Amino acid sequence: MTEPRPTPILEARGLVKRYGHVTALDGADFQLLAGEILAVIGDNGAGKSTLIKALAGAIIPDAGEILLDGKPVRFHSPLDARRQGIETVYQDLAVAPAMSIAENLFLGREPKRTGLLGWLGALDKKKMLAEAMRHMQSLKIGIRSMKQAVETLSGGQRQGVAVARSAAFARHVVIMDEPTAALGVKEGNMVLELIRRVRDRGLPVILISHNMPHVFEIADRIHIARLGKRAAVVNPKHISMSDTVAVMTGAKRPEELPAQALA
Ligand SMILES: Nc1ncnc2c1ncn2[C@@H]1O[C@H](COP(=O)(O)OP(=O)(O)OP(=O)(O)O)[C@@H](O)[C@H]1O
Ligand SMILES: [Mg+2]
Repeated sequence: MTEPRPTPILEARGLVKRYGHVTALDGADFQLLAGEILAVIGDNGAGKSTLIKALAGAIIPDAGEILLDGKPVRFHSPLDARRQGIETVYQDLAVAPAMSIAENLFLGREPKRTGLLGWLGALDKKKMLAEAMRHMQSLKIGIRSMKQAVETLSGGQRQGVAVARSAAFARHVVIMDEPTAALGVKEGNMVLELIRRVRDRGLPVILISHNMPHVFEIADRIHIARLGKRAAVVNPKHISMSDTVAVMTGAKRPEELPAQALA
């Protein structure tokens, strides 16, 4: 007998999204389990970004359902998804370069002073700096001054700020779309390490990536998207990179894989 599966933290069933004649999602299923790094891979146009946008509230699917902690949810906007504990880090290093690290961490969520000053919109700068330092240190990101402008940081450090921001505010899920694509080898590895720390702190992570070595290094499970559907979920410990790519491109059917390769 197999053990009953725990309720996924985030789940999608039968998502459909059409753009005119193009079917971006064609009945896509998805499951993110507690405490895992789930990589999402697939060829160009397989529907990865569309799937993630639906899970992050950036698009509304035409059909299908999304469940958070087992309960059906409908996200009407990215803010809506954020309010329910889902944070997304986008590929294009979505930080405000001229602002400081602390300001970036709290962008749109600045702590206000108490009393009349808070009501007038005065920010609690001291609290912002202290909290920013605490978040960065908890992820072991070694930056000394939270007042430093983000534009003076390296690409990896900037991505670190974006990851720290999502980890600081996410209550359920962190989604990362190609977080290492714009980075060099060393900085890419630093961000991978950061993603592991986020997971080890108890937040499950969805990682979209085209970088197979990164995916195999870090993922607990790999969701393979193909033609707007989930083709398979595989276990990187029991499948080769070449078999994974074969399923991704359709050269191999998931049924042809040994049972232990499937997760
Ligand atoms: N806003 C849109 N308008 C029209 N077609 C779209 C739109 N967004 C996505 N599509 C189409 O839907 C399909 C899936 O796109 P999607 O961006 O989800 O793929 P992807 O797996 O993220 O690909 P990539 O690896 O290139 O990022 C593609 O054929 C794409 O052209
Ligand atoms: Mg994409």
